[in-house]
Amino acid sequence: MKKITIAIDGFSSCGKSTMAKDLAREIGYIYIDSGAMYRAVTLYCIEKGLFNDKKIDTEKLREEIANIHISFALDPATGRPRTQLNGTDVEDRIRTMEVSSRVSIIAAIDFVRTALVAQQQKMGKSKGIVMDGRDIGTTVFPDAELKIFVTASAEIRAERRYKELQEKGEKADFEEILANVKERDHIDQTRAVSPLRRAEDAILLDNSQLTIAEQKAWLIEQYRKAAEG
Ligand code: DC
Repeated sequence: MKKITIAIDGFSSCGKSTMAKDLAREIGYIYIDSGAMYRAVTLYCIEKGLFNDKKIDTEKLREEIANIHISFALDPATGRPRTQLNGTDVEDRIRTMEVSSRVSIIAAIDFVRTALVAQQQKMGKSKGIVMDGRDIGTTVFPDAELKIFVTASAEIRAERRYKELQEKGEKADFEEILANVKERDHIDQTRAVSPLRRAEDAILLDNSQLTIAEQKAWLIEQYRKAAEG
């Protein structure tokens, strides 16, 4: 089987990361969560006081963007990657509502996208990578051999995120999460730079009614077809 590039795009909270992570582990590929990179930049901005409520000091961020280094370190206990911001583990801190409610603002800034896309392309130079996000099949790896576009209803996605936060013992309000999911869908689809859209050659997967196991089997099948072809 040849080594390929796998791009998994789709709406927020539709289980892209879980499926991409599991697939990568199963087939021995590197997994990169590109959303985590936008989240890490957002956390950096919050911690450096670059936000005034939901307004970002774009000029200050432009000056600092070269100082923001994002990498991933494998957690020896789980075998899963954890996001590092300038050498510090921020995996848990980038998943809070505070970051979720601001990340779309950061992801809509053109110079942030240019910087992160360049890093992502470098990470995927040798193929053998599964990357998930919003613009992987359209902008980051337009030549990817396998592109999947995942979707599920906003209510189902909000429910999944609600359970996730509850399991972590974090404060969770379903209506607030649903509003956040819808708001992010809107911003992601209508932003001027790299809006979320399905690449013409991406395979559509609506996983509203699929179990994780069913989804996994489907995905492995798509991988086999693409890597053998
Ligand atoms: O997948 P996620 O929820 O962790 O993504 C966080 C945010 O980053 C989301 O609002 C969309 C944005 N994003 C993006 O614009 N491009 C990507 N390749 C990945 C994420």
